[in-house]
Amino acid sequence: MNEQKRLPINWMDILWLFFLAGLAALPPVFEIHKQLTLLAIGVVQFSEGWLLARSPRRGAVYIVLLKIALATLLIDHTGEVGINSSYYPIFYLPVVTAAEYFGPWLTLLWTALASAAYCSYLYPALQEYEITAESYSLLAIRILFFFLAGMVVNRFVVENRRQIKRYQELAETLAETNRKLEQAQEEARRSERLAALGQMSAGLAHEIRNPLGVIKGSAEMLHQKLGESNPLASELAGYISTETNRLSALVTRFLDFARPLHAELTLQQITPVLDRALRSVSMTRKDDDTSVRVERQYQENLPPLPLDESLCEQAFVNLIQNAYDAMGNNGGTLRVIAGRVNSGRRNGVEVRIEDTGPGIPAELREQIFNPFVTTKKTGVGLGLSIVSRIIDGHHGTIRVADEDGNGRRGAGFVVFFPLRAENAIDSAS
Ligand SMILES: Nc1ncnc2c1ncn2[C@@H]1O[C@H](COP(=O)(O)OP(=O)(O)O)[C@@H](O)[C@H]1O
Ligand SMILES: [Mg+2]
Repeated sequence: MNEQKRLPINWMDILWLFFLAGLAALPPVFEIHKQLTLLAIGVVQFSEGWLLARSPRRGAVYIVLLKIALATLLIDHTGEVGINSSYYPIFYLPVVTAAEYFGPWLTLLWTALASAAYCSYLYPALQEYEITAESYSLLAIRILFFFLAGMVVNRFVVENRRQIKRYQELAETLAETNRKLEQAQEEARRSERLAALGQMSAGLAHEIRNPLGVIKGSAEMLHQKLGESNPLASELAGYISTETNRLSALVTRFLDFARPLHAELTLQQITPVLDRALRSVSMTRKDDDTSVRVERQYQENLPPLPLDESLCEQAFVNLIQNAYDAMGNNGGTLRVIAGRVNSGRRNGVEVRIEDTGPGIPAELREQIFNPFVTTKKTGVGLGLSIVSRIIDGHHGTIRVADEDGNGRRGAGFVVFFPLRAENAIDSAS
């Protein structure tokens, strides 16, 4: 409504001009005060939008006050006795304006003020004339119609405002749903990519494995056969054998990654799984990473979750290993937090694994879950994509924690496990 009024000229303003000109052309035509008052009403009407734009609340108060004052003046200059003036409907102007900008109670108050201003002409009239009961009834009818007009317009305006609010809320929910949809699509694309790559590497790894077995067997035989007779050749055969072992281990990891994942979900506590993963990583690292401090913050009485124990442990091991890698020899703090979430449709347990390493660069955040994305010299880049698949198998979600802005260093991963696997698809968002 206000938007429209702020336009420089609109057709409503032109109508106003006609309306005011009409009033000016009607008797009393040569009453200069009447014409000046009409002019002032025109000015107030035209500057309404501007005033409201500058100060919506106070502007409305000024406008209604001005209109009441001008209406009162107009009445005074258009009749022998103000109270009898046929211009009295001009009071509808402040009443309707108040109804437009204020709530029901304030509209009533403003209407009462306008009526009081109108009735103030009773006093001079009483000095000169006797007023009959009939005239009082007429006055009461006029005033009651002021209130009626105020209430009707106000109801309409309030209803209108409510509709606008409803549409705004609807638009917000729609935007939120859209955002979630985009996120879900992104996750679906990720899963598709993983599946395609998985199939490809499975085929490739399978094909590589057989010749590798032959090479390895032959190298071992050579090593044995040559033995003492040709130490150099024997040593070389040994190299072939160890390197083939490494290759073979790598191929096994690819195959692990590619193998269709069958999560056997049974209800159990998640914290013992976390503890086991922490222990197994710290055991493999004991010598060089003593400076990593582990902090556990487990909420008490966490509900049991549908988990595949060994897959879950594998996922945590990968995440914890990455955290150790990130903190390197400088050490730091590894914080493992497990807590209940129960907000709306997300009902389950959230595990956060946070470290104090260098963190994950913004440009990598989207990609690190893709296979073969790594920044490490000896990395394979399969850790997080395996984690992602395992969490998918639990109908959960994983994301990189947002930086919280208060200077927390390091990376954080937030894993969500739903309480029940069957309704997990819609609880994951
Ligand atoms: N805790 C972490 N802090 C910093 N960077 C990380 C962290 N975890 C993962 N990354 C980044 O994500 C990449 C992919 O990790 P991952 O899939 O486990 O493969 P890899 O460990 O073999 O590199 C890592 O190379 C590293 O750049
Ligand atoms: Mg890794």
